[in-house]
Amino acid sequence: MADLLTVRHVHKSFAGLKAVQDISLDVHAGAVTAVIGPNGAGKTTLFNCITGVTKPDLAEITLTGRGGARSELGALDVERIARLGIARTFQQVRLFDSLSVIDNVVLGGFYRHAFGWWAAVGDRLIGGGRRHRALRAAAMNALERVALTRQAFELAGNLDHGNRRRAEIARALAADPLVLLLDEPAAGMNRVETDQLMALLRDLRCDGMGIVLIEHDMKLVMQVSDRIYVMDHGELLTSGAPDSVAVDPRVIEAYLGKAAASLC
Ligand SMILES: Nc1ncnc2c1ncn2[C@@H]1O[C@H](COP(=O)(O)OP(=O)(O)OP(=O)(O)O)[C@@H](O)[C@H]1O
Ligand SMILES: [Mg+2]
Repeated sequence: MADLLTVRHVHKSFAGLKAVQDISLDVHAGAVTAVIGPNGAGKTTLFNCITGVTKPDLAEITLTGRGGARSELGALDVERIARLGIARTFQQVRLFDSLSVIDNVVLGGFYRHAFGWWAAVGDRLIGGGRRHRALRAAAMNALERVALTRQAFELAGNLDHGNRRRAEIARALAADPLVLLLDEPAAGMNRVETDQLMALLRDLRCDGMGIVLIEHDMKLVMQVSDRIYVMDHGELLTSGAPDSVAVDPRVIEAYLGKAAASLC
């Protein structure tokens, strides 16, 4: 498994609160890397630091892109980082409710192709919409992957919760990412939907994508992850294979609690 993303020594404080303290992790191609930990452990802040949503106080984050080019992400903005091949979903789903599902997903492709709003207007007026049609085809493929083609032309605002999460994943996939960061994708999903999500993650892993998964659904985490990093109070508590993390007494004490019994 090749190293796609190396995250080293990430620090982020908010007015004295150490949200992320010296976190390092590796994301490999064709692997699922989970980040777990209790509420407030710093998981989302870590994602925000990686994707440029939040500027870390200190970090060395390096992406090995297509063709082997290495990029240091620390100084780059959100859009540039997305264009290099990092896509994400958010803990609180962010869809444009008054747009159709497919139009929401098309927006993911805009990032990948550095195809800005003005270029979109130009494409419509001068290019006959050729690029837009290509983006729509990519969006439809992404919707197919998450089993949402039937809802493609519905308003995003009409989707139920599980489908909203799937639409957000499709939007991230439309960017054709090297690395996909998912912030609690199973939240609000029923068991059937979560099992479908698990199958999707396995498919994406087979395709060689590097997946980073923040998740509280321990069954999903334990069944799909290659490596698990456990955070607590901003710090790395431990990391390892699912089997070893599930029985680590520090993890059980900090996070799993009585749910641990069902994991062993
Ligand atoms: N923009 C911000 N300003 C101030 N404090 C923040 C900000 N973002 C996060 N925090 C704080 O940083 C800590 C880590 O928050 P974070 O959202 O990263 O945790 P988390 O592990 O994702 O939790 P959860 O499982 O509840 O989503 C929390 O104490 C939170 O209140
Ligand atoms: Mg969070």
